[in-house]
Amino acid sequence: MIDRREFVAAVAAGVVSQGASSDVRQHASSVLRLMRQGSAPAINAARLNARLKELSAFGANPQGGVSRVAYSDADRDGRAYVMPLMRAAGLDVRVDVAGNIWGRRAGTDARLKPIVFGSHIDSVPEGGNYDGTVGSLSAIEVAQALAEQQVRTRHPIEVVIWANEEGGLYGSRAVSGQLTAPELQNRAWSGKTIAEGVTFLGGDPARIGEARRARGDIATYIELHIEQGGNLEREKLNIGVVEGIVGIRQWEVTITGFQNHAGTTPMDQRHDALLSAARFVDMVNRVVRAEPGRQVGTVGRIQAFPGAPNVIPGKVVCSLELRDLDAAKIERLFATIGNEARRIGEADGTTFDFRPLHENVPAPSDPAVREMIEQAAKTLGYSTRHMPSGAGHDAQAMAQLGPMGMIFIPSIGGISHSPKEFSTPEDIARGASVLLGAVLLADRR
Ligand code: GLV
Ligand code: MN
Ligand code: MN
Repeated sequence: MIDRREFVAAVAAGVVSQGASSDVRQHASSVLRLMRQGSAPAINAARLNARLKELSAFGANPQGGVSRVAYSDADRDGRAYVMPLMRAAGLDVRVDVAGNIWGRRAGTDARLKPIVFGSHIDSVPEGGNYDGTVGSLSAIEVAQALAEQQVRTRHPIEVVIWANEEGGLYGSRAVSGQLTAPELQNRAWSGKTIAEGVTFLGGDPARIGEARRARGDIATYIELHIEQGGNLEREKLNIGVVEGIVGIRQWEVTITGFQNHAGTTPMDQRHDALLSAARFVDMVNRVVRAEPGRQVGTVGRIQAFPGAPNVIPGKVVCSLELRDLDAAKIERLFATIGNEARRIGEADGTTFDFRPLHENVPAPSDPAVREMIEQAAKTLGYSTRHMPSGAGHDAQAMAQLGPMGMIFIPSIGGISHSPKEFSTPEDIARGASVLLGAVLLADRR
């Protein structure tokens, strides 16, 4: 931790030498030593936190938080806010065919692959001000700190702002090659299909394959994020070193019954799709809880048709989501849920149809990147713990392409995907400092 002026003075004095001619491996260890000796992070914490506040104006809700869902006007405006910040951080900015924003700065060794870091700025409906934005703006801050303090890295650096993380890692899965063509017709919260949304952001769904990068194209991927759970706060720890990210599978479930008059159809002659749906919601909860482990299952959205008080619902469309670190366990739970649903349908005279929406495969982080994050945190005097991520992240798509690591900071009260989501400015500064340290360490290898 050092003051920026001290840092620049150290650069000038040659303690941290600059430019292509010097030994950049030495830079990293010098920088980390300076960070340890000083009293303030080399990132500009005030600037970072001020920008977080500014970004929270895009899609702001009266009750707090944001609804900046992917492909909405608020999303477009938020992206228009961050792109000039990226340019001011000395990055060459482009939008890829999937709508992801990339900002690149060359390294001193043209043979090396880039170190990539970033996150997302889209939100869930009625989301918070920290999910994704902390990692996105911190990544820009790290790039700006490096540029201002004239620290050249050996590797190119690339800051990425992923498109439509919350809807199902659409931008990052296009880059990892996991996005399938039929998924482009899925409907996003904005009301647009993925294809329409990608076009809206300046991408090109017809050429989405060109967003793909090859395995080995990325030297290291690092993402800073809020924990979204309460472990770090409860244990009064500064930094989470993520061991792995859960797999997530989602389905659209259509339950078909028979639409009829709610006044004249006797209770024993109904095929009520909403009643089957109610049994389904209860059953999913029971099946997922029936075995030990950290697996979770959720029905988070439900709609009855035609949706009138005096009509027995003939159709219900709802969601099903299952998460676990073990893909086989998700598969097994889904098989059980399918069998149980069939039984409900037989009893009620209804049918269940499951349409897969998308899948994020579980991803372990890279042990060497975990070590870099741990070392950067320890050097800065921050306490750490290793932990899994129950939330999905673009990092899990990036794990398909190369070594990946994630840094967590505390979420107050463990609340996320809510306007009440909060992380302190101090924790945000700590997270950004660890990101800077980890990037510099990644640059050494
Ligand atoms: C992303 O935030 C997810 O875990 O759903
Ligand atoms: Mn997120
Ligand atoms: Mn989220």
